[in-house]
Amino acid sequence: MMEIGDNGRLWVLGGRTSSYALHLTDRDELLHLHWGPRISLEAAAALAREPLAPHWPFESRTDGLEEYPVEGGPRFVRPALSVRAGETRGTAWDFTGSDVEGDELKLRFTDPATGLALTLHYRMRDDFDVVERWVTVSSQLADGSLELLRADAATWTLPERDGWRLSQLHGRWAAESRLVRSGLTPGEKVLGSRRGHTGHQHLPWVALDAGAEAAEESGEVYGCALGWSGSWRIAVHHLPDGRVQINGGAGYDDSGLMRLAPGESYTSPVFAGLWSGAGFGGASRQWHAWQLAHVIPRAGKPRPVLYNSWEATLFDISEDQQRALARRAADMGVELFVVDDGWFGARTHDAAGLGDWSPNPTRFPGGLKPLADEVHGLGMQFGIWVEPEMVNPDSDLYRAHPDWVQFQPGRTRTEFRNQLVLNLARKDVQDHLWEQLDGLLTSAPIDYVKWDFNRCFTDAGWPGEPYPQKLWVEHVHAFYALVDRLRAAHPHVAFESCSGGGGRIDLGVLSRTDQVWTSDNTDPLDRLAIQYGFSQLHPARVMAAWVTDSPNTQLNGRVSSLRFRFVSAMAGVLGVGGDLTRWSPAELAEARDWVALYKEIRPVVQLGAQYRLRPPDGGLGAVQYTRGDDTVVLAWLQAQHYGEPPPAVRLRGLDPAASYTCPDTGTVYSGAVLLHRGLATGLRGDLDAAVFRLRRT
Ligand code: DGJ
Repeated sequence: MMEIGDNGRLWVLGGRTSSYALHLTDRDELLHLHWGPRISLEAAAALAREPLAPHWPFESRTDGLEEYPVEGGPRFVRPALSVRAGETRGTAWDFTGSDVEGDELKLRFTDPATGLALTLHYRMRDDFDVVERWVTVSSQLADGSLELLRADAATWTLPERDGWRLSQLHGRWAAESRLVRSGLTPGEKVLGSRRGHTGHQHLPWVALDAGAEAAEESGEVYGCALGWSGSWRIAVHHLPDGRVQINGGAGYDDSGLMRLAPGESYTSPVFAGLWSGAGFGGASRQWHAWQLAHVIPRAGKPRPVLYNSWEATLFDISEDQQRALARRAADMGVELFVVDDGWFGARTHDAAGLGDWSPNPTRFPGGLKPLADEVHGLGMQFGIWVEPEMVNPDSDLYRAHPDWVQFQPGRTRTEFRNQLVLNLARKDVQDHLWEQLDGLLTSAPIDYVKWDFNRCFTDAGWPGEPYPQKLWVEHVHAFYALVDRLRAAHPHVAFESCSGGGGRIDLGVLSRTDQVWTSDNTDPLDRLAIQYGFSQLHPARVMAAWVTDSPNTQLNGRVSSLRFRFVSAMAGVLGVGGDLTRWSPAELAEARDWVALYKEIRPVVQLGAQYRLRPPDGGLGAVQYTRGDDTVVLAWLQAQHYGEPPPAVRLRGLDPAASYTCPDTGTVYSGAVLLHRGLATGLRGDLDAAVFRLRRT
């Protein structure tokens, strides 16, 4: 809901529990008024009438108040917008009008000196607390010399508080999305990626809370998340007066996004923000609900259980071996069988074949169709792995087009994993990839594409292009356009975003993929912390998790029971990734039971409201999912000490007056007891785990 006052110069956006208010002063300064619990238009108008605090010669009168601070003029905060037009730098704008289209508010400005036209976009949907913000910038300069150095999607302003804490999700390869929460001191904290992709190092998300006042299920929490799959930057600025401003957008450095010809425009990614009065858990549930309703395609449809042979076979694959694995997977109840890397070109190891997207003639003499048909005959969907944005120098593609990669003339072409990055900003590369991938999806009955991206940008040059730095942004736009076009042409195909595990997870990629590969770390214990962090922002519905072999083959040799591995992976979109040819009949039978159980709880896990009951740090960890009358609790005990039983797990979100029955044991529990005393898990020893189901009766 949107309310407008003050002769069209005051706006209050209203969501499920929160309001966001802003206004234009009589000097056309666009100032922030409120972001928090719901307020009326009258209350916002009263805020707008309050005089600005007195300022001193060394302070700006509007710093910390502006909705979108630009470069230039009496400002000392980080600018969201930086432009250069000939010798003119900075922006001084005039307000030219506003439009409301449905739930979207557009505020338009122009700067006559630079020929810049800027529109700030806001959207808040009635049943959600997420505010979506983005900007469009266009040029009206006839000579085409307007250079956009930076255009953040938004600046968020948080009110004065005594002590702010910052939560972030940090990591590296095989250790992504781990939550860290610490005090924020005056000055700036900058997160981002200068790697060309979202990166394993940080998910583009921050949460801010006022210190001791917020907890998992109570208190005020702000969150901001960026929808961009290239280099990015979120700068959190703790201002001297206790306010916080958060800028975020595409690009890490302010070294130039693009040059705008007359009439050309740049649209920033969406930087979404959220206020919750219900703690970190409440904020996460709001993020999840909004993504399920408005970001993730086909989110209402639960994802199938998949099998992927990567950890079992690495590059050593053959059609017969894949058929053998497929039969075992089907017998276990798997619904989607995915052939990973190694099926195409000369790709028998990681140094050749990348870029040549036709089946390896020795490994798949009849192409992929015979295997796909057998997989379908077994009652499963069929999926394949691709990495379209990359090329091995030892490939037919590179031999034919060595100039199609990003490179700097006269410099070494840096290789990681023996591969180079294709310059997707080039039209000929885009056309080639479309033909290859469209042809591939037409050549065999393929239902699923795991789209990988296994190295960062390094030599991001584009010889011959007058403004080569635009490739950082245009690569991402070309990647999005290719996925969008493939989805439109092959609407039954689902896509997974992978980048060596979780190197490309963000709201941008999630708006066009069905799930993400959370991490190459499939150790079920490490995964608990990774999944705990992931859940701060994203729902279980997109979080792929595999049960692999024990001892763990990829990382640490840890030994764990099939039970522990399954219950760990059942917290997301369950997959199996072990070498099924080595699993005993007893293990295969046990796995079949777990898969059957998962299918029963799947709608609750993937689509339900998630409550993080206990963090997985050391002792007992537990997560609850509730949907309608059904509740599922997953609990994991890392290590029992002194023979003491682990504590009962206190549930959330239940009706204290209702009874809940466990369909497996027939035990009836009082809602009040589950909420107050908790559920005794009976877990013991090391690496124990259990699934509890409850139905309101
Ligand atoms: C990295 C992915 O994260 C793995 O799951 C696997 O697909 C390999 N790439 C294949 O090269």
